Amino acid sequence: MNGDPWFQGLFADRVGGANYGKGTEIYKFEKIKRAKRAVMSDHPERTLLDFGIGENDDMADLLVRDVAKREIDKLENRGYADNGIAAFKEAAAGFMKKVFGVTLNAETEVLHAIGSKPALAMLPAAFINPGDVTLMTVPGYPVAGTHTKYYGGKVHELPLREENGFYPDLDGIPAEVRKKAKLLVINYPNSPTGAVATREFYKRVIEFAQANQIIIIQDAAHILLSYGDPPLSFLQMDGAKEVGVEIHSMSKGFNMIGWRMAFVAGHPKIVQAYADVKDNSDSGQFMAIQQAAKAALDHPEIGERTRAKYHRRLKKLVDVLNRVGFQAKMPGGTYFLYVKAPTGCGDLSFKNAEDASQFLINQQSVICVPWDNAGPYLRFSVTYLAKDENEEDALMTETANRLGKLPMRF
Ligand SMILES: Cc1ncc(COP(=O)(O)O)c(C=O)c1O
Repeated sequence: MNGDPWFQGLFADRVGGANYGKGTEIYKFEKIKRAKRAVMSDHPERTLLDFGIGENDDMADLLVRDVAKREIDKLENRGYADNGIAAFKEAAAGFMKKVFGVTLNAETEVLHAIGSKPALAMLPAAFINPGDVTLMTVPGYPVAGTHTKYYGGKVHELPLREENGFYPDLDGIPAEVRKKAKLLVINYPNSPTGAVATREFYKRVIEFAQANQIIIIQDAAHILLSYGDPPLSFLQMDGAKEVGVEIHSMSKGFNMIGWRMAFVAGHPKIVQAYADVKDNSDSGQFMAIQQAAKAALDHPEIGERTRAKYHRRLKKLVDVLNRVGFQAKMPGGTYFLYVKAPTGCGDLSFKNAEDASQFLINQQSVICVPWDNAGPYLRFSVTYLAKDENEEDALMTETANRLGKLPMRF
């Protein structure tokens, strides 16, 4: 076709086949970007109140950065790291013991990842044959599902509804789906709902895994941002290590998003299979960064500071959103507030959360992320840039003023 490269017909079906790159669908983050650009040009006098950012606003702790600076200059760190250095694996096992009381064999039950995203991308390669099913909660982080489909597998979605405490309805999964399912991917503290797991929930998950022979992948990316009760690791539960793995990320709790470090921990045979896929996909994270991540894991109190900051910010935002009509509650974890979207404003009715979020951007330059796959909800993130508490408070006052002007209906 006109303008197509000679290889247009060669693209694999998994990325769209011969139609690759021709889709007209605009994804929600692109829609937000476009609306942001438009409102900045229409209202240059109005600063953006950006609650749409899903990344930490601080850099890594000085202690961690100092270790990285030193380690970069060491000759022994120059090469391929393959499946990771022992010092990091031992630090990860030590962290799991110190923070969660979980005992892991550093040699066989822990392995690093270049962020939890690639770990979630690689695990389906070890288990999914064409026709197999991965059970994925929605709304959620879709990477393991995308890769399941790349391997010819299918995704069965489990909606997280408020009335179920944002837990999936495992009993409601049809028998024929359970038979074909090999993986159940869960994520607690949950992004974006902010729900945290209870022991009772994890117990049910383990029973479900045993009864149906399904492997559990628990994504603990936000675990250090747990409020209320101390953070709960899936691996603290009896039988958890028998049925799966938990993935821990350095990104959120340690402000190390761009450093790309995480680890997979749990059943040694699953860790080994992940290691084999990984060995054929990358050559490990730069050893200087692994050493810096080791230093962070040796100091879990760094995570405590991150937690305290986002806890403070979330409390302020809950208060502001409730003052303007939302029904916001402190989440159990994460740096997100997940609230029911308004159904309209004045004479206007919103079709869904996406409609509502576009309205808030256009009318008041307030940015948040809409989710519509288990009811219409908006996600407000407290990772906005503010250099001190005065700036935070000024931003909250401005948010209350702008949203307070809108006669929203809920
Ligand atoms: C639930 C969840 N899992 C995984 C990730 C990926 O994190 P990482 O930086 O460790 O790849 C994110 C990042 O936003 C996330 O929210």
